[in-house]
Amino acid sequence: MARILLGVCGGIAAYKALEFVRLATGAGHAVRVVQTEDSQRFVGAASFAALTGAPVLVGEFERDPARGAFPDQSPPEHDPLSHLELVANADVYLVAPATANTIAKLAHGLADNLLTSAALAATCPLVIAPAMNNHMWEHAATQANVALLRERGATVLEPGVGRLGSKGEWGAGRLPEPADLLAAVERATAAAPAEPHLVGLRVLVTAGGTREPLDSVRYLGNRSSGRMGFALASQAAALGAEVTVVAANVALPRDPRVRYVDVETAAELQAACDDAFDATDLLLMAAAVVDFRPARAHEGKMKKGADDTLDLALEKTPDVLAGLAARRREGQTLIGFAAEHGDGALAYGRDKLVRKGVDAIVVNDIGRADIGFDVDANEVTIVTAAGERHVPRAPKDEVARAILEEAVALRSAPTVAPEGRA
Ligand code: CTP
Repeated sequence: MARILLGVCGGIAAYKALEFVRLATGAGHAVRVVQTEDSQRFVGAASFAALTGAPVLVGEFERDPARGAFPDQSPPEHDPLSHLELVANADVYLVAPATANTIAKLAHGLADNLLTSAALAATCPLVIAPAMNNHMWEHAATQANVALLRERGATVLEPGVGRLGSKGEWGAGRLPEPADLLAAVERATAAAPAEPHLVGLRVLVTAGGTREPLDSVRYLGNRSSGRMGFALASQAAALGAEVTVVAANVALPRDPRVRYVDVETAAELQAACDDAFDATDLLLMAAAVVDFRPARAHEGKMKKGADDTLDLALEKTPDVLAGLAARRREGQTLIGFAAEHGDGALAYGRDKLVRKGVDAIVVNDIGRADIGFDVDANEVTIVTAAGERHVPRAPKDEVARAILEEAVALRSAPTVAPEGRA
């Protein structure tokens, strides 16, 4: 059971917040609601009060008949300041729907109504579920505000894509479904006590996809964007780790807390990893290394010629991860990644765990369009010698946190040597 404080902003999606309350209370959680004045134009306080069984607050100077207590608590003797007492009692603060305006205020620490003052006073996890017009969501200002909030540890859910509030509007900006909101809130409360602190840990991340030249303009490559690797790096840095990223052809914004080494080919990636590996405690090998490269790169630009076909001789690239695992020292934790298609994905992952001699393989199913390459969300299963942990579909930042949690757990658990590893 969690005590959930729900902040409701003014948007057409406010009606879905009612459904969230119904689901959350049905699952045994205690819910209190604060609303902005504008949100009352969409859904009235009486509906939330009826579903939560507790008074709803709107104004900062409004007296709270429940004195900040949740429905499972008895009110205190004294009459506390409502916004301070409510958040002090909450295990998680969910803002849903969160408008662009409220997101901007939260990012910049404004406290001009009860909902935003409560957010500033909150020490519990903050989960923000945006809902707005697609242009407002995609606007650089909103994206910068979201990045700032995430950097500070808030969970900002990805809005859904589809039909939006106004007639004919379509795009990214839909409030996530109530069941997804509940799952995010439950994840946030479960994760709160177990936050892994990585101060003093040296983390090496590989990200992106290598490119193997065919000639001076063409290459063999893959679709990896580097998003998962960059999310892992930023989250590890946020938790205090010293992070180096070997970035293979990644065109994403850089985190000032992270050191980047840019590479193009598998051979360059291998050299950069070889250099950094001895001073690494945790390796997160998220890069997609091209498995075969042209045996001989053509000098200059290849000409088409008269033939209708072209035979290319390819040779295997070095298995960088297996090479590093072969020279690992005591105290190093190695995690590999495997993009697999559909059935058998986990079996392939388990095979790689043993074959590569690593502590975990993070498997994701690239057969699905809504996760994986160049998408901000992912869903993975972490395979270790001790078992499997499924991380449900979530923004890559959250998946990164779950992987780091697992890494911390692996480092503190007694080693279970996978079969085939000395
Ligand atoms: N890897 C690596 N060097 C390679 C290929 C892969 O270091 N030449 C690493 C990847 O970064 C990843 C893990 O090994 O962490 C698994 O990658 P994957 O391509 O799935 O492994 P392969 O051994 O190439 O397996 P497959 O036969 O499925 O291609």
